[in-house]
Amino acid sequence: MAKIVSSWNDWDPLKRVIVGRCDNSMIPPEEPATSEKVPVDSEMRGMWGLRPLATVERGNECLENLVKILEDHGVVVDRPTPLQWNQAIGTPDFRNDSMMTCMPPRDILLTIGNEIMASANSFRCRYFEYLAYWPLMKQYFDEDPEFKWTQAPRPRLTDASYKHNYYDEKISLEERLVRTANKDFVTTEVEPMWDAADVMRMGKDLFIQHGLTTNRTAMEWFQRYYPELRVHAVNFPGDPYPIHIDATFVPLRPGLIINNPQRHLPEEQRAIFEANDWQIVDAAQPAHTEPPALCYSSVWLSMNCLVLDPKTVIVEASEVYQQEQMDKLGMNVLPCDLRDAYPFGGGLHCSTADVYREGTCEDYFP
Ligand code: ARG
Repeated sequence: MAKIVSSWNDWDPLKRVIVGRCDNSMIPPEEPATSEKVPVDSEMRGMWGLRPLATVERGNECLENLVKILEDHGVVVDRPTPLQWNQAIGTPDFRNDSMMTCMPPRDILLTIGNEIMASANSFRCRYFEYLAYWPLMKQYFDEDPEFKWTQAPRPRLTDASYKHNYYDEKISLEERLVRTANKDFVTTEVEPMWDAADVMRMGKDLFIQHGLTTNRTAMEWFQRYYPELRVHAVNFPGDPYPIHIDATFVPLRPGLIINNPQRHLPEEQRAIFEANDWQIVDAAQPAHTEPPALCYSSVWLSMNCLVLDPKTVIVEASEVYQQEQMDKLGMNVLPCDLRDAYPFGGGLHCSTADVYREGTCEDYFP
């Protein structure tokens, strides 16, 4: 039996990966704490239902572009099994009129060494999304005797998990930024809640964004679950919607990170990188001034790249400034047309989840 699952960071040579699927995707109905996470000026406010079929087909085409590039570079690609996401769901604690999608996998699955853990997402509509990955998890389990198949403690997501007086239509962008700076987020601390895409893996260190989708209790949980790793909470003032770290702070190789120029890591949190001679450079400007239609994310998906190895990176095909910068930073750039998959939850990094990268658990911050 072979070793199938192992990955300790986002840059070691990628050999096997999961790429999401847009099939049956929904714009989910409102639930506690969704309004807080949808940009105020979004056309999607108050809207819910099946995503238009033409956009689903086009999104899937984009994901096929990514699959082709990966396979051409010798990477084995696995795909989830979508459910009928339009079904209503219920638990003893809540009911919701639909689920969402199995895009992007990065939000749901966290690979640390030989373990893949399904996350403890704070969105009710994402509560059963992990089921789309269970056939793959069973396959890895059967084929790799060392694979650890794990589910993080499931949050209950009762009303107590959210602040109910947090959001008000009239709240200004300035006020939102003050809240981010004050680490005042819509989720409470009654239980650990986290999205896998808030966790940046760097060998012995995990840098976890504290924001709208991941709380402090989750960080404490991580530290106890992985006593041999070091857990660092990171915050990015300047982001009015701090959700997922991978359009904000993106490592390209040991010693080099690109940082969203609107969302700087505070001085005291930068110290560990500087003390270890890591360079943090401002990411290039996005090529677009608006995200595509029906998209929740910002234009900064421009920097949401997928590193294939410390010298090779996949960048979205229209993001010419980001490509140029990567080239100057000494990376070989593979452009991939993926923009029409953005509405389903993210860019190149989001759309994937690591299964196998070469390399071992290194200490980059001794
Ligand atoms: N919050 C990010 C932005 O809009 C989007 C992150 C998407 N990442 C993900 N893993 N789904 O700038």
